[in-house]
Amino acid sequence: MADKFRALLVTKDGNRQSVAVTELTDADLMEGDVTVAVEHSTVNYKDGLAITGKGPIIRKFPLIPGIDLAGRVLRSEDSRFQVGDRVVLNGYGLGEAHHGGYAERAQVRGDWLIRLPENISTANAMAIGTAGYTAMLAVMALERHGIKPDGGAILVTGAAGGVGSVAVALLAKHGYQVIASTGRPQEADYLKTLGAAEVIDRAQLTVPPKPLAKERWAGGIDSVGSTTLANALSMTKYGGAIAACGLAAGMDLPSSVAPFILRGVSLLGIDSVQCPQNRRQEAWRRLDFDLDRGKLEAITTQIGLAEVIGTAESILDGKVRGRIVVKVQ
Ligand SMILES: NC(=O)c1ccc[n+]([C@@H]2O[C@H](COP(=O)([O-])OP(=O)(O)OC[C@H]3O[C@@H](n4cnc5c(N)ncnc54)[C@H](OP(=O)(O)O)[C@@H]3O)[C@@H](O)[C@H]2O)c1
Repeated sequence: MADKFRALLVTKDGNRQSVAVTELTDADLMEGDVTVAVEHSTVNYKDGLAITGKGPIIRKFPLIPGIDLAGRVLRSEDSRFQVGDRVVLNGYGLGEAHHGGYAERAQVRGDWLIRLPENISTANAMAIGTAGYTAMLAVMALERHGIKPDGGAILVTGAAGGVGSVAVALLAKHGYQVIASTGRPQEADYLKTLGAAEVIDRAQLTVPPKPLAKERWAGGIDSVGSTTLANALSMTKYGGAIAACGLAAGMDLPSSVAPFILRGVSLLGIDSVQCPQNRRQEAWRRLDFDLDRGKLEAITTQIGLAEVIGTAESILDGKVRGRIVVKVQ
């Protein structure tokens, strides 16, 4: 195997963080019992924070960012993985404390890897990525809560983003009536193509939240946080639930206990990074069957490694639609 490979590297000099495409060798890789030839990665909101330095995501410098990767096993000391196996990795500190997906090669722990279902290519896997797999975890959480398609509409906030787009497609496929909230009215047709029954202006969810407001939905998947999540909770029907995935508008939650104690509403926390393996495997198995490949293609744009830097800025500005696949090789 050739020793040199291309990688995006984030370095820090004092308080100044820089990022560039560079050439590294196997000696630069971190410890791991499986070496992967990375074929595709993706750009998530968290990658945007890491690359621009606008959020404290990277915990070690220099570091190859990228919280997701998909590729083929090049070398393995883990008996569960053989040379040539197609694998996917989301989270576990990848692109935060361990070299991540924006490199032609990665050395990782076998414990972190999932073998890709046969029908999911490495490009498909990264079109899904952490965002799509998180959307699946959120759908599964609503299902565990007993929310059924005939129970009422489901709200998806940040709908034109990565988590939101996949959530809309997955919920629609299961027969849920989806209310998509977006700040980009020009994406209404896109959201309806994915299966949204109704598209609302996200401004409706940024008004000062009341403890309880008119009941509008049985559940929701929220990637925005802050006032949006507070309003989503106050408008949830009796016994419903909101799965909280993200913080695109902020970490805070200016809510009250009223939805919980007067309407029995639940707030379901979704974490993709340390999610146990059995639930991850279930999510990827479900994505294989539940996510329409045509819709996945419709939400995906492909870029090269060098374009990741500009895309990191765009995703933080809320300008990225759907999912981005990075062709690494
Ligand atoms: N819990 C987990 O494990 C996990 C996993 C993946 C992602 N996340 C989090 O989930 C969030 C979404 O991630 P993503 O990769 O889908 O990002 P994304 O593609 O940028 O989507 C976020 C969307 O939120 C909306 N938005 C952005 N800024 C906003 C604001 N100030 N106020 C209201 N809405 C705003 C935009 O949608 P519209 O233009 O349609 O309004 C944007 O497209 C991020 O906070 C990310 O960190 C968490």
